[in-house]
Amino acid sequence: MKDYSDYCLLKHNTFGMDVKARRFVEYDSEDELRMLIPTLRGDVLHIGGGSNLLFRGDYDGTVLHSGIKGISVEDEDEESILVRVGAGEVWDDFVEWAVAKGYGGVENLSLIPGEIGASAVQNIGAYGVEAKDVIVLVEAVELQSGQKRCFGTAECDYAYRQSIFKNQFKGKYAVTHVTYRLSKQPSLKLDYGNIRTMLEDKENITIADVRKAIIDIRNAKLPDPKVQGNAGSFFMNPIVCREKFLALQKDYPQMPFYDTDNGVKIPAGWMIEQCGWKGKSLGRAGVHDKQALVLVNLGGATSDEIIRLCDTICKDVFNKFGIDIHPEVNVI
Ligand code: EPU
Repeated sequence: MKDYSDYCLLKHNTFGMDVKARRFVEYDSEDELRMLIPTLRGDVLHIGGGSNLLFRGDYDGTVLHSGIKGISVEDEDEESILVRVGAGEVWDDFVEWAVAKGYGGVENLSLIPGEIGASAVQNIGAYGVEAKDVIVLVEAVELQSGQKRCFGTAECDYAYRQSIFKNQFKGKYAVTHVTYRLSKQPSLKLDYGNIRTMLEDKENITIADVRKAIIDIRNAKLPDPKVQGNAGSFFMNPIVCREKFLALQKDYPQMPFYDTDNGVKIPAGWMIEQCGWKGKSLGRAGVHDKQALVLVNLGGATSDEIIRLCDTICKDVFNKFGIDIHPEVNVI
């Protein structure tokens, strides 16, 4: 277990904010987590890879980070395999492992930054797949009592970028392990965006081909946090009712959209670009020039500068489209 006071969080937030935590603890097992719970005082923030966080300043509380590792096969039959993964494993290491073994289901989620714990909290998603499609069990420890609880997928209340851990149980549980069901006879999901076009020269497309295509798409569009601080998509894509969508479509026939069970999802990145923000900046906070959903730290930006840019964009999108967009990034 690592336990530090006045700990620099620079390495733990991809936006590159130079802030400190009063206390920072990294535990390596469920038992260590339970032992540490009685010592927690004041505010507690559990982080993963720090790729979805914007710190407004120093954190006057305890930042927890899971160092629980391990990928183990729990069960298998002819069609599928159940894999239990420690919350502190890096998400893309798990995807790489699965693809190398030929187990399908997570290849479309290649290169998403962050860790296993966050995949279950955040219901990470990309290219037509969400973590909830493969999660079967989430093991967690209640931070108040130290009690363990297992959540089946249905109990997690999953929806687009939502879960019970972000709503009703926000800050109440630390995820320790996640079990995924992967397929031994993968069915490929190629219908999002230009994945199929990228692979059209290939015969017998494999999950390794899909992973490679997705890595190429992401690398071409998304800025590398090691080069330019950012937290991936800064905003969530809004879901509007069908009437609102049809009215907007009359004015903007070229507007991209995705039908969902709860309404029509409209890409916030497209709306932000329509507002003229793509590649523009306000102070040292910028809008990425290849993907307008991503706000970037142009170098030394303060969180206030990022938030000022975020607020201005939200106002402009509302004035043009009458739609409220909201940050996906957690502002602390
Ligand atoms: N678009 C524009 N201009 C832009 C950005 C997007 O016109 O600047 C248009 C695109 O042309 C496309 C549509 O908007 O027609 C959707 O764009 P894209 O496929 O790039 O996806 P997104 O909606 O912007 C979401 C996820 C991403 C994920 C991609 C691919 C959220 C908040 N973001 O972005 O996730 O990689 O879909 O599935 O849902 C992340 O969470 O950090 C992330 C990168």
